Order: sequence, then C-alpha cells, then structure tokens
Amino acid sequence: MIPLGQFRDTFIIAIDDEGVAIVDQHVAHERVLFEQITERLTAGRLESQRLLTPILLELSSAQRGALEQHRATLERFGMEIEEFGGDSVRLSGVPAVLEPAECEATIRALAEDLDGLRGTTGAEEALRRIAATMACHAAVKANYPLTLDKMRYILEELRPDEELYSNIGGFGSTGDPSLEVVPYSWLHMNDNVMDPFHVHVLHSTFTGPQFASGFLVMPTVDFFYADHGVCYSAHRRMEDGREMRRVSTWLMPNIMSVPTIDLLEGGGNMISWVVPVSDSSHRQAMAMKLPRGLGPLSGIRLNGKLWGEMTEEDHQRTPGDYEAQRGQGPISLHSEEHLVTSDRGIIMQRRMLQKQCEIVAGGGNPAGVEFSADEALVKIKSGNFYTR
Ligand SMILES: [Fe+2]
Repeated sequence: MIPLGQFRDTFIIAIDDEGVAIVDQHVAHERVLFEQITERLTAGRLESQRLLTPILLELSSAQRGALEQHRATLERFGMEIEEFGGDSVRLSGVPAVLEPAECEATIRALAEDLDGLRGTTGAEEALRRIAATMACHAAVKANYPLTLDKMRYILEELRPDEELYSNIGGFGSTGDPSLEVVPYSWLHMNDNVMDPFHVHVLHSTFTGPQFASGFLVMPTVDFFYADHGVCYSAHRRMEDGREMRRVSTWLMPNIMSVPTIDLLEGGGNMISWVVPVSDSSHRQAMAMKLPRGLGPLSGIRLNGKLWGEMTEEDHQRTPGDYEAQRGQGPISLHSEEHLVTSDRGIIMQRRMLQKQCEIVAGGGNPAGVEFSADEALVKIKSGNFYTR
C-alpha cells in the first residue's frame, strides 16, 4: 500500500491495486510491534534501556505480587522491576522499544492485567498479554501526526498474510456488499448483536448451517455489563470434545465487535458502527482484518448465491439477519414483543441506552464519551476462545 496522507492525525489514507484503504494508525502499528516483540522473544530477549532516573511507582499489594510472580518473564522483555519498600516498586530498566514517557503507564497497565490473570493462566498466556500491552503502549497514538516515511513503515509492516477490508452499507445484515442503505431502524442491529441464540436458530437449524457447523450446538450464555456496553460469553462443548467461549461486545450506543463466524480461534477481527440515516434506515460502517488472498471480500453465499443474487423465493427459503430484521418492520414495536430469558442481553442493552438517554437529557455525558486522552483507548472483549 502507498500512503497518501493522514486523516485527523489518526487514520492513514493509502491506495493499493484494489482501491483506497483507511487504516487506523494505532491499531496497525500495535499489530506490527506485537509481531516484532513476539518474534524477538522466540530468539531470546528484548533489548533493554537503563533509566538514568529510576521510576518509583505505588501499586496495590496484589499488583506488586503479580509483577513479582512474572518477574522472570518481564525481564525477558527488558524490564527491571524490584520492590522498593512500602507500596512502591522501582523501575530501573525498560524495553528499548518504549518511549520513556510511556513507561509508567505501561507498568501500571501490566500490573493490572497480570493481576487480572490471578495466577490461573499459563506462562504462555502471560507472555502474550505482556507483549500485547507493550505493543499497545509503544504504538503511535490517535491524534498524532506522522511523516510519510513513518506511514510507509507501518503499512509495509502489516502482516503480509493479512489485509484490511472495509465496507459501508448493509454487509452486517445481508452478508454481502450489495445494499447501500438498510431500510429499517439501526436499533434492529443492536438487538441482533446481543442475541447469541439466533445464530443457533436462524443461522443453523432453520436452513442448515449458514456459518460454521459449530453453531449447531446450543450454547449456555452469560450476559454482563462492561464499562461502556454489554457483553455476552456463549459457552459450547464442541463435538470434538473441545470447549469454546464466544465473546461478543456491544458498545454504547451503536458499536459492535462480533468474532468470526467461521469460529476461528482468536480475538475478534472486526468492528462496526451502525449509523442511522433516518428513524427507519441505517448504514453500517465496518472494518475487518482478513487473511490475504480472500479478498476483495465478496460475502456469504447460501446455496451458491450472494444475498444480492437471491430471488424473493430464495430470501424466504433461506432467511438470514436481513429477512428476520426486516420482518419486524421499519421500527420494531416493543409493545408487540414477548421478551424471554434468552433476550436478557437485549434487555440489558436497552436499559443501558435508556439510562444514558436520561443522563443526556439531564445535561450529562453518556457512557463511552471520554475527554481525557488517558481514557480514550477502550479495550473490547471479543473472540472465539477454545480450551482443549
Ligand atoms: Fe445474525
């Protein structure tokens, strides 16, 4: 990809053979650094830089304990941390890849993250988490001007086997790029994303598996609130004996990160914003990371046809999200609904939206609006996670 410039000091605008790409500079650089860090770790340890003036940090005893527990691993990353009496730890060496100004925030994030693991996770997972946290803090931030050289570097270092796909329209409902504006309320998509059971019913048992066959297994589901939205964790015992958790997140008021529908292991690969065009129509802007060579992404085929190629009869015989959502009308009438326990995520989400509407009506700021750069990065729970 060839960089053309930056948009709002946050996105790199680039071109390649297939068209124009908009790349989130932080996410791209973070990925590059993560790959570099994990690659270097397999060869040994990261280069460390001694701090002329060591940094003293006050941490909770649990966080200090977590750092101590993973001390050997942290040293491989080039971090020299030791107890300094009381609640303090002293940081005297940091990975060369980190800017000095980022060191304190990085150690705090690591301490919090490792404490969250509570000793239940293997060394491999701790290593991955440390690498991810470091990459995040070392990567260029949003609202940060880049030279063309730096843009070129970030784009060239994107994993060669990955590419970014983006679409604005109805892909999230139809599974193909044929529809520009979706003719029903954006709130239908909110309902959809917090309903893990419809993947089993609508996408699997009505017409046979439309996505991965693993969705034929009925999950047990936990719904829970996150700081800025609602998440679910759908647990399945797969036919091959593996257990998997599929975690998906909806963020206030219209952002969603749904893991891959082929049930590939790993963190979510997409994020999308559902944007109202009117009370009864919307468009969905989505960005998705895909293995190179698949693209340009044409979409999901049912009986060999893309959604845009189907006849009216095909739509009736093999309904998907679009047909189910459109069937609820341009605006779904809550008075006609009979919500049950499996709709708990939808209820939680609507309650949250309503509460935030009341906060806005009272002159406050809704959840998800941040004014501090330190709080600007929101971590999302999303992915297909297997235990063997
Ligand atoms: Fe769906």
